[in-house]
Amino acid sequence: MTIEPLDLNRRNWHDRARVHGQDRFYDSEALVAGASSLTQVEEEALRRAVGEVGGLEVIHLQCHLGFDSISLARAGAHVTGLDFSPVSLAKAAALAERCRVDLSLVEVDVCHPPSNLLGRFDLAYATIGALCWIGDIDAWMTAVHDLLRPGGSLVLVETHPFQAMIDTTDPLVLDFPYCFDGPHVFDNPGSYTDRAARIQATKTVQYAHSLGEVVTAAIDAVLVMRWLAERTDESRDYRGDLAGREPDGQYRLRLGGEPVPMLYSLVADRPA
Ligand SMILES: C[S@@+](CC[C@H](N)C(=O)[O-])C[C@H]1O[C@@H](n2cnc3c(N)ncnc32)[C@H](O)[C@@H]1O
Repeated sequence: MTIEPLDLNRRNWHDRARVHGQDRFYDSEALVAGASSLTQVEEEALRRAVGEVGGLEVIHLQCHLGFDSISLARAGAHVTGLDFSPVSLAKAAALAERCRVDLSLVEVDVCHPPSNLLGRFDLAYATIGALCWIGDIDAWMTAVHDLLRPGGSLVLVETHPFQAMIDTTDPLVLDFPYCFDGPHVFDNPGSYTDRAARIQATKTVQYAHSLGEVVTAAIDAVLVMRWLAERTDESRDYRGDLAGREPDGQYRLRLGGEPVPMLYSLVADRPA
């Protein structure tokens, strides 16, 4: 029996969600104690997009365990977290309760949001590790456009497609294309939170999206680009041993001594 890519990925995310939650990426106890999960890069993109989030209707796309949803809600936003993994959403609901924060949570494929959510949001927010699961970037951007109210904004902070190509640096091995070329199947029992984690549903299907393809998909979905920034550092160690922590505390992945692009941030608006 052939399993559809979406189902394969959903099973993998169920298993990952089960093991995530008390690790170096997802420190639930710190969150419950009041810590914000938003990084400086995410905060900067939010500031550029909307200034303060207080009072805004926010949809957090692919919200996983809801850490950023909770952090945005604590800043005064009314947050709807969307994900296709019921395990993620159950953990997000339990965490929100412990944090005494109200969240709305919706279980759905991000490319097919339900009609009752359309046109409702001031801000659509998605971060690191959202787009590699999406086969149809045009459908993702159209969903964003349709979820936003006229005048609403998208904040996307994402892994740069350049660093996503790199499997190892010594020797230099690339295991992912820069541009979209269809599905790539990976079989990996670990997760970015713990490379030694032993999850059961190990297979995933992932897709490359170049920066140009992402921007063009936004434009084609009738979103107006307002800001695009690339960074050669990140504050979290998503790449295990590949990226080194440097004296300023930031992680960089260097090739020939030069830091490669690690992240990009994008702000785009649905026309008023
Ligand atoms: C790397 S995590 C995102 C992490 C998130 N940025 C955070 O701060 O925790 C990717 C999330 O995308 C979700 N996901 C993947 N494909 C999806 C789809 N087609 N529809 C909805 N959610 C999806 C997964 O369940 C997972 O929670």
